[in-house]
Amino acid sequence: MLQYTTIQGLREAMRSARKAGKSLGLVPTMGYLHAGHIAICETARRECDLVVVSIFVNPLQFAPSEDLESYPRDLDRDLGILSQTGVDAVFTPSVEEMYPETMETWVSVPSLSQTLEGKSRPTHFQGVATVVLKLFSIVQPDIAYFGQKDGQQVAVVRRMVRDLQLPLEVHVVPTVRETDGLAMSSRNVYLDPPARASALALSRALFAGRALLEAGERRGAAVQQAMEAVLTGDSAVRMDYAAVVQADSLVPQDRVQGRTMLAVAAYVGRARLLDNLMLDVGPSGVRDLLTPS
Ligand code: PAJ
Repeated sequence: MLQYTTIQGLREAMRSARKAGKSLGLVPTMGYLHAGHIAICETARRECDLVVVSIFVNPLQFAPSEDLESYPRDLDRDLGILSQTGVDAVFTPSVEEMYPETMETWVSVPSLSQTLEGKSRPTHFQGVATVVLKLFSIVQPDIAYFGQKDGQQVAVVRRMVRDLQLPLEVHVVPTVRETDGLAMSSRNVYLDPPARASALALSRALFAGRALLEAGERRGAAVQQAMEAVLTGDSAVRMDYAAVVQADSLVPQDRVQGRTMLAVAAYVGRARLLDNLMLDVGPSGVRDLLTPS
């Protein structure tokens, strides 16, 4: 596995791989890798000739009050995991390499960025879209890989790719969970044992919402209330939101139908946690849109 720390070095390597006819897959990450990241890398490994993983804790997507400084990092461990996963190249730029000057140019996808996460993190998705576009321009991948775990991020990136007609495909990998249902996240290290137990409220809320839909409920408000009831049922959980939205536009659904995302966010201890389910809700049944392979 080759490690690149400069944009120029990575660009040159990608140019010669492309010349040699290789298909390129890019997996953007912020490191502190877990089984969710690994599942994405394995999917990319199956689908592309050359897999590049970026590890970059992107300051643009953190507000001043957020956990940029304390965001968990362990580059040596990450490099070991990636070389065992069969990744070909890892890009680990410094902040100065990615942002030599104050940024004047931003990518924003306002309507998809202001809802859900955007209400408590108003500048987050313009930071995500900007770094992702920058990574796309450096690597010029054929396929870029994202996890369903960050469902709103997927919607924002897909829309950016569509609006700017970027010449690449976005592939989405199902959320990897612990056996008890907790979605894997680098931020789960913030959870002490009692908080870890309370964090299960997020997945339980989503499963309760799905069960209600499976039982035939189609009123968005009723499904939302069922999820809220689970989240507010644990005093250690501070609910941010529970929502039932159309999966691509993120518009709340009064009548639940078609491609639907159930999404929740809550503070547990010092962690802000997210989770979602992607469902196809038909007249007579409910299907998970992404099932783990
Ligand atoms: P990070 O949180 O490191 O996540 C990197 C990728 O892994 C994202 O696409 C995320 O959705 C995915 N992921 C995280 N947990 C997952 C899980 N349990 N199952 C499946 N996939 C999971 O998301 C970011 O970094 C950043 O915003 C980034 C896109 C790199 C831009 O800075």
